[in-house]
Amino acid sequence: MKFDILTLFPAMFEGPLTESIIRRAVERGLLDIRLHQIRDFATDRHKVVDDAPYGGGDGMVMKVEPIAACIEAVKVERPHARVILTTPRGRLFDDAAARELAQEDEVIVICGRYEGVDERVRELFVDDEFSIGDVVLTGGELAAMVMVDATARFIPGVLGSPGSAEMDTFSNGLLEYPHYTRPAEFRGSTVPPVLLSGNHAEVARWRRRKALEKTLRTRPDLLERAVLNSNDRQCLAELESEICR
Ligand code: ADE
Repeated sequence: MKFDILTLFPAMFEGPLTESIIRRAVERGLLDIRLHQIRDFATDRHKVVDDAPYGGGDGMVMKVEPIAACIEAVKVERPHARVILTTPRGRLFDDAAARELAQEDEVIVICGRYEGVDERVRELFVDDEFSIGDVVLTGGELAAMVMVDATARFIPGVLGSPGSAEMDTFSNGLLEYPHYTRPAEFRGSTVPPVLLSGNHAEVARWRRRKALEKTLRTRPDLLERAVLNSNDRQCLAELESEICR
């Protein structure tokens, strides 16, 4: 999968995209991430990329021409790319969106800055606008990194075991159950005995119950969309009465 990231701050991407799982995915040719400096596409002497908003008001707006020229240059090599703009005004980028994006072969991400981007960028070039949550960042670069990272997990071969992404929090609509590893006791806090029992059916039941409990306590909104069977519903009813007590 090919990501072309358009940004005024390419140095910000050092690290998050050059370490660990993402680095390995790049080395193995599963991911190709290229950074493009939008400022290089400004044509005036001072390489201006922003200007005051028409109609007045605070802040600066990213100009349309350098972004347009940058997109068009990238599109010569990536003619089928889906173009995404990072913005707090976008659709929520969640696990479903990451899974969907992982189906694409070519993606261009425009990192917004300042007060925003000239609306004609959206009108003429952008296929999707994404926000990583109801929080305003200083710019779209961190959002772009989050999007690349979350999407990469759904590219076959990026994660160690093929089922990893499927097992994770959100993939089955619930938050994940708690994990433990050695030692069995740490400062008086012990691992739940069922996990040491070797009884796989009991372990699976305990994990499901804990996932339901965690979701009920932390993100009850997720339960409305989760796929639940009759055991889950009974378990939830018990947990609800326990929590209310
Ligand atoms: N730029 C600023 N805030 C953002 C957010 N929450 N998501 C995506 N891009 C952003």
